[in-house]
Amino acid sequence: MLSRRNFLLTSALAAGAGAVPTGLAAEKKRRAGADDLRDWGAVRRQFDLDPRYIHLSGFYLTSHPRPVREALESYRQQLEANPLHTVEHLMFGSPQDHVLTKVCNTIASYIGGSGDDIALTQNTTTGLAVIYQGLPLKPGDEILTTTHDHYVHHESIRLAAERHGATWRKIPLFDSYDAISADELVERIQKAIRPETRVVGVTWVHSSSGLKLPIRRMSDAVAEVNRGRAPERRVFFVVDAVHGFGVEEPDLLTMGMDALAVGTHKWIFGPRGTGFAWARPEVWSVMKPMMPGNSAALFSAWAGEKPPAGPARAAWFSPGGFQAFEHYWALPAAFEFHRAIGPARITERIRELNTQMREGLAKMPHVVLYTPRAKELSSGITCFDVKGMTQRQVVQRLLERHKILATTSPYPVSYARLAFGIQNTPEEVEKTLAAIRAMT
Ligand SMILES: Cc1ncc(COP(=O)(O)O)c(C=O)c1O
Repeated sequence: MLSRRNFLLTSALAAGAGAVPTGLAAEKKRRAGADDLRDWGAVRRQFDLDPRYIHLSGFYLTSHPRPVREALESYRQQLEANPLHTVEHLMFGSPQDHVLTKVCNTIASYIGGSGDDIALTQNTTTGLAVIYQGLPLKPGDEILTTTHDHYVHHESIRLAAERHGATWRKIPLFDSYDAISADELVERIQKAIRPETRVVGVTWVHSSSGLKLPIRRMSDAVAEVNRGRAPERRVFFVVDAVHGFGVEEPDLLTMGMDALAVGTHKWIFGPRGTGFAWARPEVWSVMKPMMPGNSAALFSAWAGEKPPAGPARAAWFSPGGFQAFEHYWALPAAFEFHRAIGPARITERIRELNTQMREGLAKMPHVVLYTPRAKELSSGITCFDVKGMTQRQVVQRLLERHKILATTSPYPVSYARLAFGIQNTPEEVEKTLAAIRAMT
């Protein structure tokens, strides 16, 4: 990406590059520990989580597992010892040393597609803002979304709509949690698309209820609408994928969306303050960045006092400037950790634990379970209410009496929320069920 070394310290680096540690030793150590990860107890021990609690909020913000902590520490030490040479070497050195390119390629090897189509961001929020602000909207265009999405998704849409003179509209995808069907979820989106609709934005796994949307089928429905449209009026399908990422199947791009945003500091256990946006190259090419990007091409154009050549591409949308570099550089360690455990095993384990929870809750007459029990409509988040108690009281009771760390969903209509991840055990599910059973 960047090649600022042309301007800085070329000769000093040539002389001293070998002095910058590569983090290889830490990488070897991580690989050596990979075999242990066949055992879920060993997986749990990778996290420094306070053992006095049952942690059911890993989806909120991750605790870093050991390999990620080690990678962070190794890069941090390099930065502390020599910030200048470390950054010059890893960010502005030869293309084969460029760590952010490796980071993007690592992500691409997990989700499919090419690292060239990935913009690194600080979180899901920045990714959504980059996408919505960048899309080529005009006055009179509409963004269609749902009533179920997160605050940062709606705000990204509102701010982009205001900037472009466009409008936006929210629709409910279902009327009652008792009767959610994949067919209806898809149909409601398709039927709500109007001639002026240019973007449809949804969330893969709702943090409001735990509902998982049939994204592949929704992509097909949007594609069907697009078949009747001129290319310049096509509908873009945007997905907030944060709570499916690291839980469901890794090859996200098979779901067929046009663009997605993800935070890598939740289910995938990446360093805090990291995430990415992905879009099809033909979508990036018609988008406009809203801030200076992290791209050699942009820098060269600026240095040559010319506008950037060619269509826009993902790197133009990675916010530029100095960042918490060690957090981005350490991101591959999280993907390696995931791969070492096995994404299919992770999906299965998260499904088993949350199914155990939901089946248990469904049997309790004093509990209202909102998350669907069907495998195709649920993932790693479970939302419920206890009759006669507010969701806050439920969460407080779990904490005070049982040291269980649950959350309330931060939405206008809020529920008690639990999320079992690979750090948790079937015994913790049973303890949580017993605690809720006792709330009669
Ligand atoms: C559905 C959803 N989207 C976006 C976000 C914001 O994520 P981030 O902190 O990565 O910006 C959250 C927060 O957990 C969320 O639940």
